[in-house]
Amino acid sequence: MVLQAIQYQRGDLKILDQLKLPHAEQFDEIKNSQDAWHAIKEMRTRGAPAIAIVAALALAVELQSLASNSKLSQVGDEVSVFISEKLDYLVTSRPTAVNLADAARKLKKVVQSAASRPGASGNEVQVAYVKAAEQMLIDDVADNEAIGKHGAEWIIKKAASEATGQVSVLTHCNTGSLATAGYGTALGVVRSLHTNGSLTQAFCTETRPYNQGSRLTAFELVHDKISSTLITDSMAAALLSQSRIAAIVVGADRVVANGDTANKIGTYGLAVLARHHGVKFLVAAPRTTIDLDTHKGSDIIIEERPGKEVKLIKGPRHDGVSLDLGQVETVSIAAEGINVWNPAFDVTPAELIDGIITEVGVAEKDSQGKFDLAKLFEDGL
Ligand code: MRU
Repeated sequence: MVLQAIQYQRGDLKILDQLKLPHAEQFDEIKNSQDAWHAIKEMRTRGAPAIAIVAALALAVELQSLASNSKLSQVGDEVSVFISEKLDYLVTSRPTAVNLADAARKLKKVVQSAASRPGASGNEVQVAYVKAAEQMLIDDVADNEAIGKHGAEWIIKKAASEATGQVSVLTHCNTGSLATAGYGTALGVVRSLHTNGSLTQAFCTETRPYNQGSRLTAFELVHDKISSTLITDSMAAALLSQSRIAAIVVGADRVVANGDTANKIGTYGLAVLARHHGVKFLVAAPRTTIDLDTHKGSDIIIEERPGKEVKLIKGPRHDGVSLDLGQVETVSIAAEGINVWNPAFDVTPAELIDGIITEVGVAEKDSQGKFDLAKLFEDGL
């Protein structure tokens, strides 16, 4: 069975509630942009590409419903303005990942162009929007498969043992089918290495405080029967010191023009460790994650999440022998009264990144040590 966190048919959208994984697989219905905003904010759906696609499709579902109940304006321009306002609202759900803002910009362009046709009806504008949003779902899977292929080829060529052609890799957070429309970015590279028979072992970090690694990536690795091992975040240095890892491959929430990359908190520390140990450090992301309008990492807004996500941990009740999956318990793991700083992301300087794997290939730095990411968009996309 293929893992899928987004279930969509025209007029119907469901998301796998990632707060309940790995203990329960529950799908929530998303009927409109407000449902999507809350699901994104609460992180029931998460991961930069998935956030963008869920938001775009939620609005598609809302428009379908309004149209079939004759509640959508018949005037193309009015529908275009309505859609733009809804997209602006959706973009406010989480600030760091750029994919949703990128999707909103592209979708606004589609509806504005549809509305600019003489006599354009509300229905025509709505149909143009729905088709473009649905195409984003399709494109993301294809892009991830291409990222997986390019990344695996690069790692085998530049980091595999000459004797065996094999590699073990470390990844952070969750960048797989649960974080995208399917297959994944960094985890897509791991999947591709596994499929090629080139993977010895995939290591994943626990990824505190939300535990995307232990709850979600581990779930995907076990699901796909990929030989894998979980470590806590604090074990990465010890693992790298043993020379067992050929490359670290992570995803991204925003890659800016100079290559500085915002990704899950802890990514920057892994990049520093990789440099110290001579291990390749790679970022895997579709071009929808690249923000050429922002010039350097210090300009990226880093989301800060509530302190309770650090102080409390949630899981099914354990009676000393077995888990009771029907009973979720919240346990405090910090001293009462302590202050908490909980940034969801950090910024890894381009200097520490060996390559940025996209669907069109792996970008590397030039002889001056600089990325030229604008070159990745020469096809006009
Ligand atoms: O807070 P999250 O879980 O949304 O953060 C996710 C990440 O940092 C991922 O690495 C990134 O979004 C890429 S997912 C393909």
